[in-house]
Amino acid sequence: MGFAEATKEYREKIEAALSGYMDSCGAPEQLRAAMEYSLKAGGKRLRPVLTLYTCNMLGGDVERALPYACALEMIHTYSLIHDDLPCMDDDDFRRGRPSNHKVFGEANAVLAGDGLLSYAFQIMLDAVKADLTENAINAARAVSLGAGVSGMVAGQVIDLASETAENTGIDELRFIQANKTAAMIKAALLAGAYIAGASQEQMIALGQYGELYGALFQMTDDILDVVGDFEGMGKTLGKDEAENKLTYISLYGMDRAKDLASETAHQAVEAISIFEERAELLRELALSCLSRRS
Ligand code: IPE
Ligand code: IPE
Ligand code: MG
Ligand code: MG
Ligand code: MG
Repeated sequence: MGFAEATKEYREKIEAALSGYMDSCGAPEQLRAAMEYSLKAGGKRLRPVLTLYTCNMLGGDVERALPYACALEMIHTYSLIHDDLPCMDDDDFRRGRPSNHKVFGEANAVLAGDGLLSYAFQIMLDAVKADLTENAINAARAVSLGAGVSGMVAGQVIDLASETAENTGIDELRFIQANKTAAMIKAALLAGAYIAGASQEQMIALGQYGELYGALFQMTDDILDVVGDFEGMGKTLGKDEAENKLTYISLYGMDRAKDLASETAHQAVEAISIFEERAELLRELALSCLSRRS
């Protein structure tokens, strides 16, 4: 059984919890509708599943990790809504449907993103209030760091700047991938690990895996922007070249990009060797990323 199949139950738990949070969010109807449109459009739920999976792998209580998992998915969804805006990547499709701003207009799309971001922090603070432990505080802090000015937002700024900057190279590309994508994936693993009370050694190993697997995930996103299809990816492809994005493909060409992805997948596997067979599905997740279509 692969990672996707083994985590079906977690995905169902996350869908139910996200629906519950949206039902009780208290937003005016047009705001709730715009938030829910993107949140419930059928994303893979990779980040929240990783939180629950990691928590369970280390013997933690999955129910306690659930608010942080949902917060991560809300922040991720907000990042996608804003990423698609005309002032950013200007994309008309997301998760197989018209982008948020295509349906609700740009102002409401900005606000739907703002709503998801601030609601995520409300949910985490409520969870911390109900469970005033250092582990809960650390989980919320890990999500904040992954999402914020030294994480995803930092990566997005340099990603956009790289479209027009001259003399950009591997250092800028590594920064972009580490921050815009890997930071949230690393946060997902660490949040689950904190709730489970992981040891320092375990946190370091999972952090390294998050950095490597996160970079790999963005490398394959960039590869699929060239060779993928709309049905699998749910978004308009071929955009990176059109927008002059800095990617491994633009820097080294497709063959080298694929080789580097494969190398990175094997490094990710190596990073979690201390867990032995307990992390078998995380190993499978990294290796299967090389052949993902969605
Ligand atoms: C898309 O993330 C943005 C990137 C970091 C490449 P996902 O591929 O996880 O998107 P969803 O959540 O499944 O829609
Ligand atoms: C986006 O990277 C990462 C985010 C933080 C949203 P991309 O711009 O490559 O993601 P897609 O291809 O639009 O999903
Ligand atoms: Mg982008
Ligand atoms: Mg984009
Ligand atoms: Mg992309």
